[in-house]
Amino acid sequence: MMMSRKLLLLLLLLTATAAMAFGQNCIRRCGNIDVPYPFGIEPGCYRDGFDLSCNVTESKLYAGNIEIIGMDVLNGQARVYKRISWDCHDPIAPSKESIAMDLTGSPFTFSDTRNKFTAIGCDTIALFVGSTDQSYSTGCVSICNDNTTFSNGSCFGAGCCQTSILPGLQFFNITFSSTGHKDISWDNPCSFAFLVDGSWYSFRTTDLNETDFYDRNDGRVPMVLDWSIGDVGCEEARQNSTSYACRSNNSRCLNATNGIGYLCNCSSGYQGNPYVEGGCEDIDECTDRNTYPCHGSCTNLPGSYLCACPKGMRGNPHEECFPSSERSMVAIKIPNISNQVELAQFINEVFILSQTNHRNVVKLFGCCLQTQVPLLVFEFISGGTLSDHLLAGEGISPLSFEDRLRIATEVAKALSYLHTEASITIFHRDIKSSNILLDERKTAKLADFGASRSVSVEQTSVATAVQGTFGYLDPEYHQTGRLTEKSDVYSFGVILAELLTGQLAIPRQENNVVRYLVMDFLVALKQKSLFKVIDPLVLNEGSQEAVKRIARLAETCLKLSGNDRPTMREVEDELEAIRSKKAKARMPLR
Ligand SMILES: *[C@@H]1O[C@H](CO)[C@@H](O)[C@H](O)[C@H]1NC(C)=O
Ligand SMILES: *[C@@H]1O[C@H](CO)[C@@H](O)[C@H](O)[C@H]1NC(C)=O
Ligand SMILES: *[C@@H]1O[C@H](CO)[C@@H](O)[C@H](O)[C@H]1NC(C)=O
Ligand SMILES: *[C@@H]1O[C@H](CO)[C@@H](O)[C@H](O)[C@H]1NC(C)=O
Ligand SMILES: *[C@@H]1O[C@H](CO)[C@@H](O)[C@H](O)[C@H]1NC(C)=O
Ligand SMILES: *[C@@H]1O[C@H](CO)[C@@H](O)[C@H](O)[C@H]1NC(C)=O
Ligand SMILES: *[C@@H]1O[C@H](CO)[C@@H](O)[C@H](O)[C@H]1NC(C)=O
Ligand SMILES: *[C@@H]1O[C@H](CO)[C@@H](O)[C@H](O)[C@H]1NC(C)=O
Ligand SMILES: *[C@@H]1O[C@H](CO)[C@@H](O)[C@H](O)[C@H]1NC(C)=O
Ligand SMILES: *[C@@H]1O[C@H](CO)[C@@H](O)[C@H](O)[C@H]1NC(C)=O
Repeated sequence: MMMSRKLLLLLLLLTATAAMAFGQNCIRRCGNIDVPYPFGIEPGCYRDGFDLSCNVTESKLYAGNIEIIGMDVLNGQARVYKRISWDCHDPIAPSKESIAMDLTGSPFTFSDTRNKFTAIGCDTIALFVGSTDQSYSTGCVSICNDNTTFSNGSCFGAGCCQTSILPGLQFFNITFSSTGHKDISWDNPCSFAFLVDGSWYSFRTTDLNETDFYDRNDGRVPMVLDWSIGDVGCEEARQNSTSYACRSNNSRCLNATNGIGYLCNCSSGYQGNPYVEGGCEDIDECTDRNTYPCHGSCTNLPGSYLCACPKGMRGNPHEECFPSSERSMVAIKIPNISNQVELAQFINEVFILSQTNHRNVVKLFGCCLQTQVPLLVFEFISGGTLSDHLLAGEGISPLSFEDRLRIATEVAKALSYLHTEASITIFHRDIKSSNILLDERKTAKLADFGASRSVSVEQTSVATAVQGTFGYLDPEYHQTGRLTEKSDVYSFGVILAELLTGQLAIPRQENNVVRYLVMDFLVALKQKSLFKVIDPLVLNEGSQEAVKRIARLAETCLKLSGNDRPTMREVEDELEAIRSKKAKARMPLR
């Protein structure tokens, strides 16, 4: 006796120490059951209404008088023990016990998804009265006779019956009535009925033997209770930051499935207790290669991880990396997301690119979003940007006229595709030469969709915060904030002017005067001195006819009013016509 007391004391001390280490000086374990917040035992350790008690002599946890045997904080469920209702036909002293349970006023309801109302017996009508005013009840019938065949695991009315209950119930009273089919060849005078964890109970024919079942289970069975926070949904709950229960930064809110209140969970890539500040902690995926396979080098990131084939290898790093003599299929963009706007732009880019598939639009291979440092994995375009090539700095030879005309056509095709053919209509909004990438063959790939807008097909224009790059920005859009496909047409006109003049459109200072390429270009056209501003290389390689046609095309693209500008499809057609030296300019040059 002394020994066991000492042992118990020691155990209690150990439990208490472990609890202190958890942080808030609250007991977080009772016996071998966790007591996670919002639940708690001592005042100050639980959310209002989530108080439990621990009987240290028994090492048992209780909510009121309900014994709790497990708590699942992420699914909002608790496993509890509940006594079995019974009814025994004893000709001398018939005896029975109806078991009722009332959760009114608590955060608990009987889980309709996890429990089954179950009865065992051979002359059994079991009733489940689900409300105090008896307005809801259900039940099931179990009969046996000479010819009944019982089978283990089969609970369909032969020795055993089951039914489901409504969601959201907080009261039951289980009672019996008789079928009058009592079979005497079975030694089974008793009926049993209970609400039980459906995955726990499976009928055994031996359950019909007298009181075997009842005795084996100490007269009780496990049942699952749902719990949730409050009685309003997430949106409403968030309004009151004092009472809002999802405390951890990396947590999210879920409406409770039974429609009453809400639950919190950790955001994907995080684990822990969402109800506690700082409770959701980053999962180190790199230490668990079974769940998060990575055959390359693994880097843990907040809420995510990066798995990449090592240098000199390629392949899908989640499956296999193999040596590569070629240059690698992939570029990674790690945006510097220091504010919400940048994050929104980034998400936008992922969305837009996931909707497109065009040889002149950069391909998105993958991304990981559920993270603080999101990444985009792109097709790797090795040749630099169009602006690099126009500046033709070190190691870059200037683009030939042929190349310039082809690149213009390719960009026109990409834009025409985005405006009319992609699964959604997309306005790029930030067309500029530094957003046009060139591969080894100098094929153009449109990139950087951070500022892009997708619009439904019926919409011809959308009002938006003006975004774009000065020098390329449509002046009409700049003034009105009304975004149309014609804004991209304007920016494309700027690209044409750049290709013809070999100059970038970004305003530059010359002898204390700010010069705008577009203005210089349009003035030269008007004054019929176009060739003064054209790149000598272009004049050398291109025919006067072609250069003039491109210049006129640029001019219409740069019209002040969007209505006067051609569509990208018309631009594309005219460029194709120029390339094939066809005279046709079906395009109504407005
Ligand atoms: C704890 O359980 C024991 C044994 O069932 C009981 O005698 C005692 O009263 C309980 N303690 C409390 C505080 O309920
Ligand atoms: C909460 O997240 C965990 C882990 O991702 C998941 O197992 C659990 O089902 C989620 N709970 C709910 C209610 O969605
Ligand atoms: C059992 O089956 C036999 C023959 O199939 C039939 O005569 C008898 O009435 C049945 N007994 C019951 C209780 O249904
Ligand atoms: C059902 O399983 C129990 C053991 O769990 C066994 O004793 C019994 O014979 C089985 N009944 C049938 C009909 O197979
Ligand atoms: C449960 O039902 C039984 C039988 O009808 C009744 O005697 C008992 O009072 C009921 N219990 C509650 C709590 O309603
Ligand atoms: C019922 O249980 C008793 C005692 O556990 C056992 O002796 C008896 O054989 C069982 N009967 C059947 C039909 O399983
Ligand atoms: C959550 O539930 C509230 C009502 O309780 C409802 O208005 C809201 O739309 C629900 N939210 C979601 C995301 O289902
Ligand atoms: C927010 O919740 C707190 C705590 O439950 C409560 O005292 C307060 O009145 C609520 N505020 C509003 C505006 O509902
Ligand atoms: C949660 O986020 C806020 C704002 O970003 C920050 O100030 C706070 O330190 C974070 N808390 C924890 C526990 O990380
Ligand atoms: C990210 O942006 C912030 C503010 O815009 C800046 O201070 C910081 O240096 C940037 N970080 C990197 C790695 O560019």
